[in-house]
Amino acid sequence: MKRSILGAAARRAGLALAVGAALFAISSCRQTDGADGGKAAVGAAAEFAFRSSVESPPPGESVPFKLSANYPTAAPAACAPADCPWLTMNVNFDTSFPPKPVSWQGGGWDRYIASILTYVRKGQDPNLADQVGFRPDIGGGGPRWFNVPWMAYDPSAGREYRHGTTNERTAHLQDLIGPDGKPLVADDSVGAVHLFAGMSDACKGRYPEGFETWSVGYYNPQGGYAIGRSIPKDGVPKTADYMGSQMLAGLPFPAGTVVVKVLTTNAPPECVPALKGSPEWRVNRHVLGSKHGKPSYMCARAVQVSRVVQIDVAVTDPRSPTGWVYGTYAYDGNQPGATFWDRLVPLGVQWGTDPWTFPAVPDGAASLPLQQSVANPAIGTGNLYEHMGCRGRLAGPVDNPQSSCVSCHASAYAAKPGAKSVMGQNVPPSFGFDGLCTAYSADNASYFQNARPPQSFAGGKYPDAMSLDTSLQLEVAMQQYGQYATGKAPEPCVDSAS
Ligand code: HEC
Repeated sequence: MKRSILGAAARRAGLALAVGAALFAISSCRQTDGADGGKAAVGAAAEFAFRSSVESPPPGESVPFKLSANYPTAAPAACAPADCPWLTMNVNFDTSFPPKPVSWQGGGWDRYIASILTYVRKGQDPNLADQVGFRPDIGGGGPRWFNVPWMAYDPSAGREYRHGTTNERTAHLQDLIGPDGKPLVADDSVGAVHLFAGMSDACKGRYPEGFETWSVGYYNPQGGYAIGRSIPKDGVPKTADYMGSQMLAGLPFPAGTVVVKVLTTNAPPECVPALKGSPEWRVNRHVLGSKHGKPSYMCARAVQVSRVVQIDVAVTDPRSPTGWVYGTYAYDGNQPGATFWDRLVPLGVQWGTDPWTFPAVPDGAASLPLQQSVANPAIGTGNLYEHMGCRGRLAGPVDNPQSSCVSCHASAYAAKPGAKSVMGQNVPPSFGFDGLCTAYSADNASYFQNARPPQSFAGGKYPDAMSLDTSLQLEVAMQQYGQYATGKAPEPCVDSAS
């Protein structure tokens, strides 16, 4: 069975690899008109690209989510300073060598990330209630927020119908290694799973299957414009020349792009006290079953409660060496504040991968202090179950602690449209590789490197991979389209023998 082969490979290669492999190897889907020789392909491509979810809601049931894909057709005006104040804030993107230390308050990063949250929460339900969800349309002048197409194709992890969330494959299974060094979770779970740093052993024992992350992302009009030009109405990705290289026709993302992502977990508040009072979203996600005598997530889905745990943002800022700034906020129910949004705590910002810091360089004297990742000094107090990423770079509570926001996102590359992208073969291994963050190596040096489109991925291993300007949702979309276009209708989601 494909799954058990993957399982064996995962054990050999280190579990981190399994997460990446799982996303791109197990994605399974059905192509209705696979044998039509491409005649109806354009129409069918649009249908798959722009459908809202893998499974439809039961007849008569109204749901909060509908794919927001009426992308602007003309370039939106630059974001006004009143709306996007961070773009003109005096923060330090200094890349001089040796790096100068950066600070949260002194460096102005606290205000920078606070102002992005003001933009994101505008017009949203104060408590992000389940029946409302994240609103694409906040009134006035057309939709504010847009989704990426081609993410409702794969029945294993593709968009569900209530909130449009997809199953994240990014959590690091190393979190789930028990004290005896053996995985706590069967490695053939349909979804990637995570636990929380700081979670009690009692809770780990009670939920040996781990928790799933389902999340949904939205781009603002600047981002939506870029997406619509990259994947037009026929659903077929389009490329154009950008500085001598082929890239998706709308990329790179213009200045003023804002991306937000709402992440949920099914961890219960008694195990993660910070989740107290967090919005309870009903999500059509994998049911718990049993495989090889161990509790495990299955292909079948049912509407079940998940809780919003983290809000991620990414903004383009021309001053950044990567062109981007990433930031994250954790929900902490013990914070004062009347609404969900008021109880979010910023954890930090990251605008580069810190290529002068281990493991991009050897450990010891050669490794310099972080300069492109800044943490909120309040972390570690109160109930925030936060771990950072590799060597203290930024990563959120449900992210891979061996990676970091910008290093994982800097690996967003795709094979040319129509070809299949396979991580580690023709595109970089976003979710890691054997030895991620453990020792200085060529792979680590490439993974913790800054690039700007249309530059290829550092290290020279993937010369033909096309930069997606850090959008991993576009990478998922290109992967899904590649499967569709190569016509090898992959098998539907299949549970390994139980
Ligand atoms: C180990 C890999 C990994 C890490 C670390 C990671 N992400 Fe992502 N992120 C993804 C993947 C994969 C997607 C696309 C799939 C999805 O959204 O379901 C994504 C999507 C996003 C999006 C939506 C736009 C896009 O690029 O697709 C934002 C915004 C985002 N992440 C922000 C963050 C922030 C902020 C952090 C750090 C706190 C972070 N990410 C850490 C893998 C990662």
